[in-house]
Amino acid sequence: MNRSLSLPTADRHQPALSLSVIFAPIQTELAQVERQLFNWAKASSPALRDIARQTVSRPGKLIRPGLFLLITGYFGYDNKDKIKIAATIEAIHSASLIHDDIIDSSALRRGQATAFKAFGPEFSLLFGDYLFIKSIGRALEFKNNKIAEILAEASGQMIEGEIEELAQSFNLELTEKAYFKIIGKKTASLFQASCRLASELAGTPAEIKSELETYGFNLGLVFQIVDDLLDLKGETRETGKSRFSDLREGRITLPLIRAIKTWPEEQKKKVAGWLKRRHGEWPEPVVSFNDFLLELETGGALGSSLKTAEKLAERAKACLAKLEASPYQESLIKLTEFVLKREK
Ligand code: FPP
Ligand code: MG
Repeated sequence: MNRSLSLPTADRHQPALSLSVIFAPIQTELAQVERQLFNWAKASSPALRDIARQTVSRPGKLIRPGLFLLITGYFGYDNKDKIKIAATIEAIHSASLIHDDIIDSSALRRGQATAFKAFGPEFSLLFGDYLFIKSIGRALEFKNNKIAEILAEASGQMIEGEIEELAQSFNLELTEKAYFKIIGKKTASLFQASCRLASELAGTPAEIKSELETYGFNLGLVFQIVDDLLDLKGETRETGKSRFSDLREGRITLPLIRAIKTWPEEQKKKVAGWLKRRHGEWPEPVVSFNDFLLELETGGALGSSLKTAEKLAERAKACLAKLEASPYQESLIKLTEFVLKREK
């Protein structure tokens, strides 16, 4: 079945700006970050080089280092270690994705085979560990202890969030509160830490620092809700990832939680049965992913999840009210739009 489904949106008529426009004020620094990440592969031992090339040296959207650089840029903070810190943030993110792809049995990322698919779980697990511990080691090289402290704390949160998500797989009773706790830890914690690191280093007044952390946290929540919607609605050629991965792995995301609330007990039992037939072995044509998706859409679960993301994006934007107008502040505002409207 190939029904064309469109995501109900409040303001999707206006496409989001491209990241290259949003990151224009930090273009040079981001290019340096990319170069450092690229050099990870060169600096790795021959056994690690290919897997490094496939992962950390192929940077993605660079949103987390982008946040760090926009905020340090806003405050005029400049230091020789700035680029290295931004690259370390991205390397931690990259390590987490390598592990996540093993956990989710994901074959595709950024349009190419995941390390899990290309090198197998053993190499991927070890390379993820290596990248992670090297990143923390780098963070310890900086004179300011706060850097390693903030990054280690966020990493711990990410691991907790991922464990909790895994533990709750196939649990159709998962509450929204529990979902938000999971995504707060697994995703929003590193967004928040990137903002915290930047304001900590720039010596920002406590009041602004806390607003920027809340901005980062809410932006991270928006990012993950949209990620969960894209898993259902996104085109692989855009997202670079396999569609319906959450359903295959039994991950209970916001649209599903909202739909389940409206289902009678009988239907819940039926769906629980389908979900447990893991890795796509759904009893089609009794139910196909597209039928399921249509149900989530017509029942309003997709639209209401997007509305929640929109509200959180507004909340994130409101946290920037105390910043003075500047190209950096403008980019932080536009970044909320990008994260909300992104299609990849
Ligand atoms: C992506 O979620 C995963 C994360 C945001 C966090 C993953 C964290 C870990 C695996 C813990 C290990 C952490 C470190 C620091 C080594 P997703 O599966 O919803 O997103 P996807 O669609 O991009 O796969
Ligand atoms: Mg995943």
